[in-house]
Amino acid sequence: ACMRRFNPTQMLETLRGKRMMFVGDSLNRGQFTSMVCLLQSAIPSPEAKSFEMSPDQQHTVFTAREYNATVEFYWAPFLLQSNADDAVVHKISDRMVRNGSIAHHGRHWEGADVLVFNTYLWWCTGLRFRVVNGPIAGAREEDAAWVSTEEAYGMAFRDMLQWVRDNMDFNTTRVFFTSMSPTHGKSQDWGGAAGGNCYNETAMIEDAGYWGTDGRRSVMRVIGEILDGDGADVPLTFLNVTQLSMYRKDAHTSIYKKQWNPLTPEQVADPRTYADCVHWCLPGLQDTWNELLYSKLFYP
Ligand SMILES: *[C@@H]1O[C@H](CO)[C@@H](O)[C@H](O)[C@H]1NC(C)=O
Ligand SMILES: *[C@@H]1O[C@H](CO)[C@@H](O)[C@H](O)[C@H]1NC(C)=O
Ligand SMILES: *[C@@H]1O[C@H](CO)[C@@H](O)[C@H](O)[C@H]1NC(C)=O
Ligand SMILES: *[C@@H]1O[C@H](CO)[C@@H](O)[C@H](O)[C@H]1NC(C)=O
Ligand SMILES: *[C@@H]1O[C@H](CO)[C@@H](O)[C@H](O)[C@H]1NC(C)=O
Repeated sequence: ACMRRFNPTQMLETLRGKRMMFVGDSLNRGQFTSMVCLLQSAIPSPEAKSFEMSPDQQHTVFTAREYNATVEFYWAPFLLQSNADDAVVHKISDRMVRNGSIAHHGRHWEGADVLVFNTYLWWCTGLRFRVVNGPIAGAREEDAAWVSTEEAYGMAFRDMLQWVRDNMDFNTTRVFFTSMSPTHGKSQDWGGAAGGNCYNETAMIEDAGYWGTDGRRSVMRVIGEILDGDGADVPLTFLNVTQLSMYRKDAHTSIYKKQWNPLTPEQVADPRTYADCVHWCLPGLQDTWNELLYSKLFYP
């Protein structure tokens, strides 16, 4: 099948009177931002659109007024309730999620007509992950059970699917899940000199079979197994962007982003040290992810 050229007007017509919501982490926020950029190009008048963020920054809403359509982003990096749910302050080293807590954030997704989920990077802190069975507020490390990252990730994915079964009408709504977004923090992965990263990279990786060391196939495989197994009843559209993004060591924001803290002289002297090799420039790669979404929405 061919990819279709993104048609913002057709997309807006389809979203007329509807809500499209991206739920997940900062990579999904990037895909949301790309979608807003693609759509708003078809709405030249500033009065016909608005962009608002809740005071806690958890929820962002773009409105296309003449279409009565919204495109929204909701911050939930694990989908489940976690101790990293603060959309502003979430640099937590001892990450934990609460078992069976999908409704905690899920109540804010009710009524969405198109949902686009993601979750991956936040789980990858080690080989195991902490799960608490009681309240997350005030939970201590000793209250948590260690389970393998694969098991914890699968638990969240299954809970998300159950929420979708319970809350979405598959005749009238659509659910997407965007796969793992690769990072380029280690240039040895693609045969570069030791110590380098995506900084100063200007070309794609040419090796069609390239796979970076950050791509944990065992974690990605969990999703395939669930979607082919006990999750097969849910008509979820999987946006498999991982391999196509693996090649794009040149597409990260690198040093070209807002710095929240002033750079130190050491950083200025060696820009590699503060290059962001996780997030992506816009316009750029994530527009392609949305072209894929568009193709699968209209030409499934
Ligand atoms: C606008 O869209 C919302 C759903 O997002 C719907 O509930 C509402 O009825 C619509 N309003 C009009 C005037 O069509
Ligand atoms: C999560 O909760 C379910 C249902 O209560 C339970 O069967 C499972 O063992 C729990 N998982 C963990 C890791 O505590
Ligand atoms: C969805 O469509 C099918 C087939 O037309 C119908 O049998 C079913 O009742 C519909 N479900 C809902 C929730 O409307
Ligand atoms: C950036 O890459 C170019 C071309 O590979 C190289 O000549 C240059 O030295 C690099 N600059 C830095 C600061 O690493
Ligand atoms: C995603 O695509 C890659 C190849 O591009 C494939 O190896 C992998 O199995 C796919 N994953 C799933 C879950 O379909």
